[in-house]
Amino acid sequence: MESILKVENLKKYFPVKRTILETLRKEPQKYVKAVDGISFEVRKGETLALIGESGCGKTTTGRVILRLIEPTDGKIIFDGVDITHLDYEALRPYRRRMQMVFQDPYASLSPRMKIGDAIAHPLLIHNLATKEEAREMALKMLRRVGLTPEEEFYERYPHHLSGGQRQRVVIARAMILKPEFVVADEAVSMIDVSMRASILELLESFKKEYHLSMLFITHDIAVAKLIADRIAVMYLGKIVEVGPTEEVLKNPAHPYTMALIQAVPSIVKREKKKRIEITGEVPNAVNPPSGCRFHPRCPLMTEECRTKEPELVEISKEHFVACYHPLV
Ligand SMILES: Nc1ncnc2c1ncn2[C@@H]1O[C@H](COP(=O)(O)OP(=O)(O)OP(=O)(O)O)[C@@H](O)[C@H]1O
Ligand SMILES: [Mg+2]
Repeated sequence: MESILKVENLKKYFPVKRTILETLRKEPQKYVKAVDGISFEVRKGETLALIGESGCGKTTTGRVILRLIEPTDGKIIFDGVDITHLDYEALRPYRRRMQMVFQDPYASLSPRMKIGDAIAHPLLIHNLATKEEAREMALKMLRRVGLTPEEEFYERYPHHLSGGQRQRVVIARAMILKPEFVVADEAVSMIDVSMRASILELLESFKKEYHLSMLFITHDIAVAKLIADRIAVMYLGKIVEVGPTEEVLKNPAHPYTMALIQAVPSIVKREKKKRIEITGEVPNAVNPPSGCRFHPRCPLMTEECRTKEPELVEISKEHFVACYHPLV
């Protein structure tokens, strides 16, 4: 299958603010290695879920891919074109084809803009419609995402809406440009559980209609199970496992993936697998552990894990894991 997006050895390091003392002592600049050399692809028409604990680098990955922040190193290839270093003008057409649904729908909507105008706004920015046309299209989109009567909703402000309704607005705003690729960042994490299914259905319906490809960022495996064709598991700036959703959930190979899955009782097939107990907290991304980054928390750790970083290796069809002691 053709890929819409490919990243190769992508890195994003954020400089850590130095204290006065560190500056005076001329200590070297430290970096948060938020994303530290990841490679993956999103195929045309598929949803790839990127999962992992808070702080492992999911949002940073999404933002770098869309060039909302600059990568430190690596390559971003969109539909066959290397967009890593395109300047603002050259990037414009791609900005339309790639959209992001942000983690916090409240923070990503301007409190002083009517939601109808917020949805119409991208059309005006990209010179795709007159004001009148943009309004008509925004009204249609409001209806499409279930915010009716649309004339009434057009005039409302974000604070008039529930969390679920705001998320519909954010989705409408991303979809009005008919993108080919969307990064959905925790699209359902901040809304009430009772509304999650309908928001996921809405995303699915757009996916079918526009033949969308999606990078679906979530810390919730149960959500990934519902929506993703494949799953990539991230730990401390690295991808440790990737494969078809069913295969990864049934036969997790990385101890970390196993631990994540075991934390969700509804997914676990208890009888089949030995339990993996992990201890401790996610280490600091400024000084990540040597070798396999998971080794200090891993019950299967050996000397090799401490010294040499494992590469992603294919253990069954399309199923890759970076571990010296895979569980399958
Ligand atoms: N602008 C920034 N400046 C400095 N550090 C940052 C910045 N953005 C993110 N980080 C750091 O990079 C790491 C990865 O953050 P990121 O937001 O990508 O994680 P995440 O997986 O999306 O987490 P969450 O599930 O909480 O949303 C964290 O250590 C975070 O503190
Ligand atoms: Mg995030």
